[in-house]
Amino acid sequence: MAKMDENNPLKHIIAHAKEYGFIFPSSEIYDGLSATYDYGQNGVQLKNNIKEYWWKAMVQMHENIVGIDTAIFMHPTTWKASGHVDAFNDPLIDNKDSKKRYRADTLIEDAIAKIEAKINKEVEKAAKRFGDSFDKEQFLATNPRVLQNQGKIDGINARLKKATDDADFADLKALIEELEIACPVSGSKNWTEVRQFNLMFSTELGASAEETNTIYLRPETAQGIFVNFLNVQKSGRMKIPFGIAQIGKAFRNEIIARQFIFRMREFEQMEMQFFVKPGDDQTWYEKWKETRIKWHKNLGLGEENYRFHDHLNLAHYAKAACDIEFNFPIGFKELEGIHSRTDFDLKSHEEHSGKKLQFFDNDDNQSYVPFVIETSIGLDRMFLAVLSSSYNNEQLEDGSERVVLKIPYALAPIKVAVLPLVNKDGLPEKARGIIDEIKFDFQAQYEAKDSIGKRYRRHDAIGTPYCVTIDHQTLEDDTVTLRDRDTMTQERISISELTIQIENHVSIKNLLRQL
Ligand code: GAP
Repeated sequence: MAKMDENNPLKHIIAHAKEYGFIFPSSEIYDGLSATYDYGQNGVQLKNNIKEYWWKAMVQMHENIVGIDTAIFMHPTTWKASGHVDAFNDPLIDNKDSKKRYRADTLIEDAIAKIEAKINKEVEKAAKRFGDSFDKEQFLATNPRVLQNQGKIDGINARLKKATDDADFADLKALIEELEIACPVSGSKNWTEVRQFNLMFSTELGASAEETNTIYLRPETAQGIFVNFLNVQKSGRMKIPFGIAQIGKAFRNEIIARQFIFRMREFEQMEMQFFVKPGDDQTWYEKWKETRIKWHKNLGLGEENYRFHDHLNLAHYAKAACDIEFNFPIGFKELEGIHSRTDFDLKSHEEHSGKKLQFFDNDDNQSYVPFVIETSIGLDRMFLAVLSSSYNNEQLEDGSERVVLKIPYALAPIKVAVLPLVNKDGLPEKARGIIDEIKFDFQAQYEAKDSIGKRYRRHDAIGTPYCVTIDHQTLEDDTVTLRDRDTMTQERISISELTIQIENHVSIKNLLRQL
């Protein structure tokens, strides 16, 4: 992996994403709009491939999961029922010197992470000192400095949880002061009070001022699934347990929207609500944790780049929750959430709508409001995980360098580039003929400009798994060279074998079969 600039670890990725048509700042000709991005010609292909991998893994591979696509605008009572009007708030605090605004809980969590880092350092030092005889578990359980720091962490976590649960902003501020947290920008500890800020965007529905109604842009896709629970269950004759999946845009007026596409105000979610019998929820929660981590690791981005993080501060709807964190260039951060939401949402929609949202269980001869396990992943964060972990700056044996995106082959935006060695002698026509054949199976691109070496580098930088070169020999015996992106090896194969050879390596089926 390329060495990152410590002050701006995403810098290379952002520049590369723009140069090669993955991501552009939105409305750039007007100097952009903060935390809003557009996906370019290669970006949209990669994004669509990630969606396809998720959709097929969740819907096509599970007999008891179906997909839907619901409206972004929903009846305003939806958000009262879901708790978002009253509880979808961030506790914010401003530094009076830098004028920067922060989430109070995030400042405290960052302080906890610093203490955790101290523990990890102690472990590393001890592991070096003791060598093979080092017993990490025993060390963690007995070392006085580790125990003291762990005690501090537990104390802060407990107080953070209580202050968040009770909306006790004075105590959040007190904790920030006691931990002597300084503003990362100004370095000062000159803080305002902690205040609440609702994250939903609102707009008006209706033509005249008298008739207007405030409606919200959905902050999560999940509620479109809950309000359609009965429609889907009845029309699809679904039996519990079953799931409903959806991919779509969500909007949050994030105060600290930064770090490229990690935290945006308009983003996409891939969510699945799995409806289960009350009492079966814990088992399904564990099952979905396992299923989802397998989906991630199956991509080969590095097992060491994932970890689970259990939530201590639960969202207003959750009984248990964890994140799958990914090792982004900005450190381990949330990529996906898995939540045990109980019957909170369906029950609340029953109360607010006056409609029954229950399942009649023929086996037990009774109706009940199902419990829900939710898996919720940010598509843009997944995109960033793939892009950042694929970015490699390689030193080659001949002393030169290449930037290559080692995107999993099945997700690569362009699967194959077709390159006539020279732009004459009938080679372009032959190359076009090949494209016309393979375009039914793969996203292919014709490239005739520049030297062959430069064209290889360009496709390395886009992450194209295969380059097919057409030369004079091709005209004689219908063979081409097939160059592999990662190994850079080239083999001569017959045009008739091309599709099957490439298909074997780039098909999303390969990923699905391994699940
Ligand atoms: N329905 C549950 C829910 O929305 P969440 O943890 O708030 O839970 C789920 O969001 C996922 O959506 C996160 O794990 C993250 O990947 C993504 N996400 C949330 N806020 C985001 C933002 N501002 N920008 C990009 N992705 C975001």
